[in-house]
Amino acid sequence: MLAALRKYLILPKLIRLSWSAPKNRTMAWDRYWAGIARTGARSDVLWDSGTDHELLGYRDVLQRHFDPSLPVVDVGCGHGAFSRALTAFSPQVLGVDVSANAVARARDESAGVEGVSYLARDMTEPGAASGLVGSTDANVFVRGVLHVLTPADQAALMENLRQLVGARGTVFLAETNFQGNPVEYVAHLGASLRSIPAPLELAIRTLPMPGHFGPQELARVMPRDRWTLVEDGAATIETNPLMDAGGNSRIPGYFAVLKAKDPDAGR
Ligand SMILES: C[S@@+](CC[C@H](N)C(=O)[O-])C[C@H]1O[C@@H](n2cnc3c(N)ncnc32)[C@H](O)[C@@H]1O
Repeated sequence: MLAALRKYLILPKLIRLSWSAPKNRTMAWDRYWAGIARTGARSDVLWDSGTDHELLGYRDVLQRHFDPSLPVVDVGCGHGAFSRALTAFSPQVLGVDVSANAVARARDESAGVEGVSYLARDMTEPGAASGLVGSTDANVFVRGVLHVLTPADQAALMENLRQLVGARGTVFLAETNFQGNPVEYVAHLGASLRSIPAPLELAIRTLPMPGHFGPQELARVMPRDRWTLVEDGAATIETNPLMDAGGNSRIPGYFAVLKAKDPDAGR
């Protein structure tokens, strides 16, 4: 019992570290990406495993549901690791992120990669889907974005995705769905009173506290008259291997595949 409570001794330290994180979420994300020195192997980024192993785990689902003739929009693309890997599934991939610094970094890292481009845009803003991929429908890939948004922004994002996918496109989402409070979450990722892995500390210092996103959260932002849930299930979100102090660079997650219902009504 006492041992189980010990992890809560870290709480004052967490509060102190997160104190200076900008309250404006767009500013927080842009500042976060401005401070990233390394990605890939030995990355500063908490959710960057440095490999395409997680994406390969989604390959069968993507091949089952993505029409390969459509472009793919990677919503909340960050430094573009998944956007680049998604060129294996589509000849045209567009990574979109609210942070101009993320987009600049993604562009730099994608020099010489065919078929991928980037754009800075807040995908929760009304009309954000307009003009992204011209007049065609698109497939949408979302990893680790909904769980960092407020419920109102999640609903706004979903409405924009509906416009993007139209009649032929499909949404694939994979999100962190850790069942536990923030102290249990950071403890899972290797934080203790003695030390906090550097990529985790950077996220705590800079970013809003994330939530989790699973079937219940999806049901709240997926009106049944607007979306069809085609397939869903458990996923494993692979994070930075530096998080492995306690053997936990993996976070329980959730994936879902969605099609828009009556899409023309959303245009
Ligand atoms: C946890 S990161 C995941 C990045 C990337 N999808 C990956 O898995 O490597 C969340 C990303 O969503 C972006 N983001 C947050 N809010 C957004 C919004 N309203 N519109 C577009 N991107 C957003 C952040 O800048 C950040 O790059």
